[in-house]
Amino acid sequence: MARANTRYVCQNCGASFPKWAGKCEACGEWNTLVEEQAAESVPKGLGKASGKRIEFVPLSGVSSDAPRRMTHIQEFDRVCGGGLVHGSALLIGGDPGIGKSTLLLQVTACLAQEVRCAYISGEEAVDQVRMRAARLGLVNAPVELASATNVRDIVASLDTAEGPRVAVIDSIQTMYVDTLDSAPGTVAQVRASASELIRVAKRRGITLLIVGHVTKDGQIAGPRVLEHMVDTVLYFEGERGHQFRILRAVKNRFGPTDEIGVFEMGEDGLVEVTNPSELFLADRRGDITGTAVFAGLEGTRPVLVEVQALVAPSPLGTPRRAVVGWDSARLAMVLAVLEARCGVAIGANDVYLSVAGGLKVTEPAADLAVAAALVSSLTGEPVPADAVVFGEIGLSGEVRAVSQTDQRLKEAAKLGFGRALMPSPRRSRGNAGDDGLKRLELDQLSDLLPLF
Ligand code: TYD
Ligand code: MG
Repeated sequence: MARANTRYVCQNCGASFPKWAGKCEACGEWNTLVEEQAAESVPKGLGKASGKRIEFVPLSGVSSDAPRRMTHIQEFDRVCGGGLVHGSALLIGGDPGIGKSTLLLQVTACLAQEVRCAYISGEEAVDQVRMRAARLGLVNAPVELASATNVRDIVASLDTAEGPRVAVIDSIQTMYVDTLDSAPGTVAQVRASASELIRVAKRRGITLLIVGHVTKDGQIAGPRVLEHMVDTVLYFEGERGHQFRILRAVKNRFGPTDEIGVFEMGEDGLVEVTNPSELFLADRRGDITGTAVFAGLEGTRPVLVEVQALVAPSPLGTPRRAVVGWDSARLAMVLAVLEARCGVAIGANDVYLSVAGGLKVTEPAADLAVAAALVSSLTGEPVPADAVVFGEIGLSGEVRAVSQTDQRLKEAAKLGFGRALMPSPRRSRGNAGDDGLKRLELDQLSDLLPLF
């Protein structure tokens, strides 16, 4: 029988159970329960001792604006909401080998020009970090290196008045608190290590950058609780085969969460991509059937990407649907609307859809670009090479307005496009700009078909 103070904790969702089971009842994952020491029991009420009175202050007081530290890597600063806030904790998640250590070494090398920065690696020896720095051309950066995994030692080193102002912990899954019996990387260790490190960071005003590994289904390993403990959660993503890397804010107490930063992984490290549209369209050849350029928006920045579709007769009873970089449920919806509202017989075909360049598009505004690519592939007629497409599609077949029309059009004009397939102005919230783009305005999705 389990001892009273041990629990079985799911390594996927963090739920805990008194007994072991093959499947976690909370999240449904198999083989994720691991025996761990129970956290100290919840105190039973507050008892007799009375607390200290809290001082209330008026809301209308003068705020000390959160001071920020700029890394001067603009893509990184923007995703953080305009630089790193003093005493804040950031979690950077991503697949192994995507470039988290590279990014943070470059960030600390920039910051070290102004303040003391410590890079604490639990995964690599000091020499290995030095080798990476040599590759990045950063051997002379005044970053302080250490290879350590014991949180007690790390806290002792950070907890001094003249200690580093920025600290990197690479990665939280290698850190351990020596009062816990569980192995490093378990939920209990990850949680305890993070809370100790964050506590010292808040006390001393240290900006803490924590690396977190990602499990096979794209979550930061360990429970969601880690994401609640930090101020900012960034994901570093990209396709292995592509050199593009995208830094995305998922949570940010000090800034917006829809910003992305685009980097290119080169021979000597990550290089900022200040105009992603140019990059995503670099391999585009005009007048190819089944492609459409979507004028999208990532945070405050317009980004043009190519949507590619292939519609082919299916030999299978249940036709195949494969989607890269977009939501497959959304594709099913666009296909259904094309079939039911516009009479396009597409359902019996295999359909492949891909967003070129490894970007993941989440905006519903891409619906119309997807529909245009699908129809183009089906009919064998290309979408005009100088046209950008955007608009949301409703279930009754109407083309709905999207936000920031002007910004999308401006970016398209800047990159030399001449036409825009877009929602009709009656629905559009944007006003007519002077961007010189010819507007082909659609009211219904069926208005798209005569263009092919
Ligand atoms: P790394 O930062 O070690 O990834 P993570 O910390 O997320 O596991 O990056 C490793 C990958 O990046 C590796 O496949 C090699 C590649 N790389 C480059 O292409 N150029 C470079 O300059 C560096 C340092 C790494
Ligand atoms: Mg690493």
